[in-house]
Amino acid sequence: MTQENRASLTSLFDFPAIAPSILAADFTRLEQQLLACTEGGARWIHCDVMDGHFVPNISFGPLIIEAARRALPDAFLDTHLMISRPGDYIETFAKAGSNLITIHAEADIHAHRTLSAIRKAGCYTGIAINPGTSLSSIEELLPETDLVCIMSVNPGFGGQSFIPSALQKVERLVTWRREMGLNFLIEIDGGAGLSNTESITQTGTDIVVAGSSIFKADDIRSQTDALFRKALVGASNRG
Ligand code: DX5
Ligand code: ZN
Repeated sequence: MTQENRASLTSLFDFPAIAPSILAADFTRLEQQLLACTEGGARWIHCDVMDGHFVPNISFGPLIIEAARRALPDAFLDTHLMISRPGDYIETFAKAGSNLITIHAEADIHAHRTLSAIRKAGCYTGIAINPGTSLSSIEELLPETDLVCIMSVNPGFGGQSFIPSALQKVERLVTWRREMGLNFLIEIDGGAGLSNTESITQTGTDIVVAGSSIFKADDIRSQTDALFRKALVGASNRG
């Protein structure tokens, strides 16, 4: 499918949205926990793949994405590849059931080519940057991407503290998006919770990834719903 004949992501969902990250899930109860997320209003699920090379940690691979797909046949699966040479694995993660595949700009010297491969594999495209990576490094990729993931922690682990400078990147990216006439989505990933989701969406973030805040909560359904309400308040207060 080409970009031209597929619906733009902004027309498929209402934003802002909360994207639970299954990195923090209890995998013995993955189906039950994912259903609780959807009952709390989440339709977008974030899947963090780590290879122990691009990032220091190893998480899971395509088998867990297949399991998430079986658990939630209609959910939108957002696969975040924190792996070196992501271009070698696009088919694998597309076949596993991903709807969108995000690669890291730092992990791929041929990111432009890999984004095309993601589209050819039938998925939406995403490009992520670490807290220490400048927005300017992805400027030429923006017309090729459906989503920009601004890391608000250094990737590799759940449960880290939010890095506030990520919000300045979001603000600049919102301006660039308008000036360039593009419609990619902006995602914030890492350290989001009840205390900061409102300010995250107020800056213009479309998707807030939340791992520990959701899956370590006593009630996953109501926590997802509470985060969503915070996201709505923030978005309604945009300047
Ligand atoms: C970090 C991952 C994030 C992380 C979010 O490397 O990309 O998606 O799981 O988890 P929390 O919300 O716990 O920071
Ligand atoms: Zn992630």
